[in-house]
Amino acid sequence: MNHLVVFAHPNPKSFCKGILDTVVKASEEKGASVRVRDLYDIGFDPVLRASDFEAFSNGAVPEDIAAEQEDVKWADAITFIYPVWWSSFPAMLKGYVDKVFSFGFAYGNVDGTIVGLLKGKKAFLFSTTGSPNEVYASNGMHNSMKQISDQGIFNFCGIDQVTHTFFGSVPYVDDATRKGYLAEVEKTVKDNLFS
Ligand SMILES: Cc1cc2nc3c(=O)[nH]c(=O)nc-3n(C[C@H](O)[C@H](O)[C@H](O)COP(=O)(O)O)c2cc1C
Repeated sequence: MNHLVVFAHPNPKSFCKGILDTVVKASEEKGASVRVRDLYDIGFDPVLRASDFEAFSNGAVPEDIAAEQEDVKWADAITFIYPVWWSSFPAMLKGYVDKVFSFGFAYGNVDGTIVGLLKGKKAFLFSTTGSPNEVYASNGMHNSMKQISDQGIFNFCGIDQVTHTFFGSVPYVDDATRKGYLAEVEKTVKDNLFS
């Protein structure tokens, strides 16, 4: 089991970093091989540029994108860890998806039909929010975000098994609640990574 973890938070003291550490530890304890792509730390360039389109149109894949795609190919499971910013991914993570989940790699045209090319993999998303979970559950925001990421990205690319967990009120909860959140992260990974 190869597990690719894509981490998108600029602050090493963030709660998301605690989620990252927990995901890596739980995965390794279950016997998975783990690769982490810490997008801010590696200075990932999230901008899909004219030169990228030029390369793609010539049948080439830019080097930085090809390197990330190797990790996606390698992975049986892909996890995104990120804070919700303006009801969505941080631009860094959105840019990663724009560039790495490209036409011909993550999805493609087969006999005139657009199909997902990442079939057989599974995905996990851990999203933190400032808003309480109850508010985002009742006003439909969780579902909106899930539709965009789980359905619009992962299902579209052929990944059917998507486990998306939201942690609410993260800046405002006490340490015991945070510990509970991390216990939930550990359980989610351990229960679902291999099944
Ligand atoms: C630029 C920015 C935009 C944000 N937008 C939202 C938002 O749309 N909804 C929300 O609930 N919280 C929002 N927040 C709060 C963060 O989601 C919250 O602080 C974060 O998830 C806490 O986790 P962390 O310690 O890992 O950063 C935003 C924070 C920032 C900095």
